Amino acid sequence: MFNRVFQLFKIARKLSASGAVDTINQVYNLPIIISLFFNFMSIGSSKKIFDDQRKPGEKLCAALEGMGTTFIKLGQFLATRPDIIGEELAKNLEKLQDKLPAFDTYEAKKIIKREVGDNQFKNILELSEPIAAASIAQVHIAKIKNENQNKDVAIKILRPNIEKLFNEELDALSLFAYIIENTISKAKRLKLVEIVHLLREITNIEMDLRFEAAAANELHENTKNDKGFNVPQIYWNYTSKKILTLDKVEGISIREHKKIKEFGINLKVLAENLIQHFLKQAVRDGFFHGDMHQGNLFVDQQGNIIPVDFGIMGRLDKNNRKFLAEILYGFIQRDYTKVAEVHFQAGLVPKNASKEEFAQALRSVGEPIFGQSIKNISGGNLLAQLFEITEKFNMPTQTPLLILQKTMVVVEGVARKLYPETNIWEVSRPILEDWLKNVKSPKTTLDTAINTSAEIIKRIPDFPDFIDKANYALQLMAEGKLNLSSGNNKNLEIEQVKLKNFRNNLIIGFLGIVILCLLVF
Ligand SMILES: Nc1ncnc2c1ncn2[C@@H]1O[C@H](COP(=O)(O)OP(=O)(O)O)[C@@H](O)[C@H]1O
Ligand SMILES: [Mg+2]
Repeated sequence: MFNRVFQLFKIARKLSASGAVDTINQVYNLPIIISLFFNFMSIGSSKKIFDDQRKPGEKLCAALEGMGTTFIKLGQFLATRPDIIGEELAKNLEKLQDKLPAFDTYEAKKIIKREVGDNQFKNILELSEPIAAASIAQVHIAKIKNENQNKDVAIKILRPNIEKLFNEELDALSLFAYIIENTISKAKRLKLVEIVHLLREITNIEMDLRFEAAAANELHENTKNDKGFNVPQIYWNYTSKKILTLDKVEGISIREHKKIKEFGINLKVLAENLIQHFLKQAVRDGFFHGDMHQGNLFVDQQGNIIPVDFGIMGRLDKNNRKFLAEILYGFIQRDYTKVAEVHFQAGLVPKNASKEEFAQALRSVGEPIFGQSIKNISGGNLLAQLFEITEKFNMPTQTPLLILQKTMVVVEGVARKLYPETNIWEVSRPILEDWLKNVKSPKTTLDTAINTSAEIIKRIPDFPDFIDKANYALQLMAEGKLNLSSGNNKNLEIEQVKLKNFRNNLIIGFLGIVILCLLVF
């Protein structure tokens, strides 16, 4: 118990010293009692005062970055939840940089040796200094012996003790969240305990690199016959919870336009390929890379696209895929009645809503977009606006579709950087047409309700077998169900009971001390 209270004070001090609380206070006037508490906590610490030229959002990002892994992850998580923290703060947090100083290569070697065993370790012939370091892991380049062949690989290694540190800080944060929720009635709405709980579930999966390896492996299998898209192979003998070994990418960053051109690669074609591969994976396989920013994409001399970083994946079930392909294709044809029809069939709009009005709302989104020059048309933005409409018609957006929409915006952004005049519609059309043709009966009803229940998450702790767990967790992660699960989550309930007991113990302990003092004095 004392450890937890101690951690709580440490965190409160860290938060106040970092300048994060001051910045939040500037945007959202905090209740006076909280401000006073943090001012009190920062006494004696060297409180960071940020240069006032910067916007509050930038200051908040800097403060969170300075506080290390737990807070960077918290910031990244909150950036995806404008429903909880508001649009403005969420937008600001999207700029959070996930970079931390690297740990020593000597330490890295020790971890690898512990993970793969002495014998296997002898087969690692070279290990570079870290080439990248983020909040959870860092990456080294290495040469290994595998089945009597020398291979150039990249090894991703978790930061030492990261899981323990993260969970300890989260324990303290959840206690803190509980105290706030129970002392300030307005704060209940913010569901702070639930946020901390979800962050724990999601990040603990990210802290097991076998999940990432499994995702890379699945994407590799799905795309092995797709020309122009190569997913690095995983070396399972050199992969464990704490390390992930995969083929070294022989290519250059997709950012390096000039060098790509020097390879003799046509940027227009590359941009089109990127969009088509992404869309194909989403509608054909229902499994796509969910973090396709420029830092995670490479291009080789032949113009193949090579992704890395499989920590965030998106998964769409069959209904969602069909829905997606039909609405996008409907929009391309500017057939708003059909798009409306699909929504009604899928049960995504309440039955009593007017189909005509819904089609009109769709037209209000579609037509202005088609009225724009080709350069500005974006599937991702179209979907974003579409989801705004479905929300107006009282239907919450499916989280897997939201992940897809957000990734689509990123992918289109990367493509447009390569070739600004990319015509997203023309590029998307053949993929969607093909897919719709291949589906046996495109008109089959979609009204089997799309399952968004958080049932599976409850079962995770009961699975004895790692692979089952990994599959389930991957699926959850990809479908965004970890984010979706609501208050009826068993683990969350357990956590809440624990917090309640802890509070009761705290009160009993405090009363005990008071009684003792009264008796003695
Ligand atoms: N297989 C690889 N080959 C070469 N470089 C890699 C490889 N995997 C990762 N990297 C480099 O390391 C960086 C960080 O790896 P990544 O998996 O994206 O980690 P993070 O989850 O921290 O972003 C990448 O942006 C890339 O530059
Ligand atoms: Mg990355």
